[in-house]
Amino acid sequence: MDLAELNKVAVAMTAPGKGILAADESSGTIKKRFDAIGVESTEETRRDYREFLFRTVKAMHDRISGVILYDETIRQKAADGTPLVKLIEEAGSIPGIKVDAGAKPLAFAPGETVTEGLDGLRDRLIEYRGLGAKFCKWRAVIHIGAGIPSYDCVNSNAHALARYAALCQEQDLVPIVEPEVLMNGDHTIERCEAVTEWVLKTVFQELYYARVKLEGMVLKPNMIVPGMDCATQASDDEIAEKTIRILKECVPSAVPGIAFLSGGQSDVEATARLDAMHRIGGFPWNLTFSYGRALQHAPQVAWSGKAENVPAAQAAFAHRAEMNGLATLGKWTPEVEKQAA
Ligand code: 13P
Repeated sequence: MDLAELNKVAVAMTAPGKGILAADESSGTIKKRFDAIGVESTEETRRDYREFLFRTVKAMHDRISGVILYDETIRQKAADGTPLVKLIEEAGSIPGIKVDAGAKPLAFAPGETVTEGLDGLRDRLIEYRGLGAKFCKWRAVIHIGAGIPSYDCVNSNAHALARYAALCQEQDLVPIVEPEVLMNGDHTIERCEAVTEWVLKTVFQELYYARVKLEGMVLKPNMIVPGMDCATQASDDEIAEKTIRILKECVPSAVPGIAFLSGGQSDVEATARLDAMHRIGGFPWNLTFSYGRALQHAPQVAWSGKAENVPAAQAAFAHRAEMNGLATLGKWTPEVEKQAA
């Protein structure tokens, strides 16, 4: 393991002013997104869509530090035969790959899942490195509900994350460690806070047991938010304050960077809350975004599968990338959001 190199990549992935584009939707998830805009999901439409994102050169260069790809995408070529990985590298961004096999029902734990994909992972990592990946992602999913999460769910997911992270570092790939506490449900922000604290403490304990080097990883957590159906919603400032407090409580300063998932927040909420955290400041890690929906919803709607809409869709993607880039510097404002739109 070359820890200096891992650290260099982890720092670059979370560099101020930039963040990560999560474009690693599985075939099932991208079909859902395409259904919503009336586009048939085929290998070609998926390629065309991702190709125009990666060809949004200025935004990619200025604001996107890395791109998380899906197995199909890391092997795909642009219409002119250029590998998509090469487009990303040429834009000065770092290619990465989602390596988990998805969240599957956890035995004897109704309503809970454990993320699978450890079997054969070492060999897959070696192949992905050969295909150009410099980092990986594994997402654990924690549901909040009556009596859940259970101890078994939190521990099983944290243990799997740690085994995955160790295998990545062994192969000189930076692990993005993603324990997502979902915002589905009517729970309060305090419940999200308590569960996220429990999950993060457990994850870092398991990372320690698995001898994962914190200097060579990136954490991808949820923000501390109320459930979407909770009667009492929270201000951006309260979310920012609670999120920073829990992260400071749980994430050692040796971790170079933290990159949030958007997880069902609106585009502008995800931006405003990241910005609010930077206005508070005073934390030891780089703090940025690793958004899927919050970066891609606007370009998907603008595109709607029509070639003539590609320039407008690229502009919509560039706009969200720019707004989130400003948020990592505490320089986003609602006025900037409107002016640039
Ligand atoms: P969202 O930002 O859409 O939550 O996706 C990020 C991600 O990579 C989830 O694993």
